[in-house]
This record gives sequence, C-alpha cells and structure tokens, in this order.
Amino acid sequence: MSEVERYISSLESANPLREPIIRTVIESLQLPKGSLGLDIGCGIGLYTLLLAEAVGPGGHVTGIDITEEFLEKARSLSSQSRIGDRTSFKEGDAGKLPFDENTYDWACSMDFAGYAPLEPVALLKEMGRIVKPGGMVFILMWSSQKLLPGFPKLEAELNATSSGIAPFNVARNPEYHMMRALGWFSRAGLIEQEVRTFVRDICPPLSPEMRTALIDLLQMRWGEAETEVASEVWAEYQRLCREESPDFILNVPEYYGFFTYSLFCGRVV
Ligand SMILES: C[S@@+](CC[C@H](N)C(=O)[O-])C[C@H]1O[C@@H](n2cnc3c(N)ncnc32)[C@H](O)[C@@H]1O
Repeated sequence: MSEVERYISSLESANPLREPIIRTVIESLQLPKGSLGLDIGCGIGLYTLLLAEAVGPGGHVTGIDITEEFLEKARSLSSQSRIGDRTSFKEGDAGKLPFDENTYDWACSMDFAGYAPLEPVALLKEMGRIVKPGGMVFILMWSSQKLLPGFPKLEAELNATSSGIAPFNVARNPEYHMMRALGWFSRAGLIEQEVRTFVRDICPPLSPEMRTALIDLLQMRWGEAETEVASEVWAEYQRLCREESPDFILNVPEYYGFFTYSLFCGRVV
C-alpha cells in the first residue's frame, strides 16, 4: 500500500468515530440554506458532503486540498451520494486560495488549521479574504481524549510524548497552541470570536467498525512513543492497547472513554 492509500484508508477507518460528532458540530452552526461554502483541507471529502447536506438544495460546497489523489477519492465518494451535485473539488494550496475576494458565504477547515507548517493567523486571514462581509469562518480541531480508564498516570505519560501532543511541541510559541485559537481569529481581523467544545462518548457495545477505529486511534495517538517513554510505560501501553493482548482495554466490560473537538468561529467585518 502506498503512503497515500494508507492515509485514505486511515481517514475512512476513523469515520465511524468522527462522523457523529462532526455532524453535531455542523448542525450547531446552522449554516444558511442555499449558501456557498469552502471546506479547506477537505481530504477525501467525507465532511464536505455533510456540509453540503446542511446547506440544502441550492447550496454548494467546494472542497479544496493540496493532494490530488485525495480529491479523486472525494469525487468518487461524492458521485455515489444523492447530494453529490452540491459539491465540487479543486486542487489548491490553503496558503494561497485560488479564489477571488468575497466569493463564499462561509469557509471552514476541519482537522487542518493549526497544524504546522501553515501559520494559523495567515491561514485565517486568507479564509477571511475569500468570505463575504458578515460571513463566518470556522475551524474544528481535535482537542482532547480520555481513552485508558483506570490508568490515568499511564495516559498522562503517553500524552506527554510528541505524538500525544501533536501537532504541538515545547519549541513552538505558546500562541500557536490550539487552545489559544481565539487569539488567531482576533489577530486575523475576524470579529465575534467564539469557541465551543463537543464531546463524543465511547461505551460498549462497540460495533466492529468502532472497534477498528479505536484500535487505529490507540495506535495513531501513542504507537510511535516507544523511544520517548520508560520501558515499563511502553510495556504497559502494549499490554492495554494491543488487540492481541489478553488485557486489551477495549475488552473491559465497563469501558468508557471520550474525545473532544473544539470549534472556533469568527465573522468577516
Ligand atoms: C487531517 S487531514 C483532514 C481531512 C479532512 N478535513 C477531514 O477532516 O477528514 C488534513 C488535510 O489537509 C490537506 N492539506 C495539507 N496541507 C495543505 C495545504 N497547504 N493546502 C490544502 N490542503 C492541505 C491534506 O492533504 C489532508 O487532506
């Protein structure tokens, strides 16, 4: 499998975890019916389609991404959807959006803004440039998780590794931490900044798709942490987080975990 194919497969496998919470976030936004929106860093377009559902007939959402292979997949998924005609996909760089000023009613980015190397204030300014006055700009970012009930110290130690705190690390200016994103909006000249955090609870019984998504998540979050933690911590991670282990944490009958997404919004003057 190529790198791109692996990435596409990871986005698809994570969808059962992410889709319900992202749907709730989009519903909370009350996007204007019939509006024109832009989904920046749209990946394979899974959530471009949810946005297109929200704007209703007469609305349209363009997904833009820098990776043409992801867009091919997005077009293919979209062509299988009954609302696919409300979407289109274009290759481009979020740092220099290939659109005129005041083109869209709103613009968003999900799990993209805030990640290096794009400087977030410059990205928000660029988003504000292509949105009409009064229109909304919003970014959605994974903000936390509790996945190892009963093992808070282990979870804290794993979270203190570079993949646990991705995309942030000690060398970065604190202003770039996602919890400071309200400041990015004000520095980008966007007004009426707001933030809300949404939670997704994880409880058994887990569907096979949810189980696979969680196995991938445990791997994605901490699977590369071996060289950054003590050997006992790594052994404990493997005991609890490997599917083949007799102590695999997802087999605990009273398992409970959750994760959060934080939504930051502002308006164009
Ligand atoms: C974590 S994925 C998120 C995809 C999608 N928004 C989602 O939530 O499933 C980040 C996406 O940003 C895209 N990307 C990275 N740098 C970009 C850039 N400079 N301009 C546009 N897209 C970019 C990647 O190709 C990838 O599809």
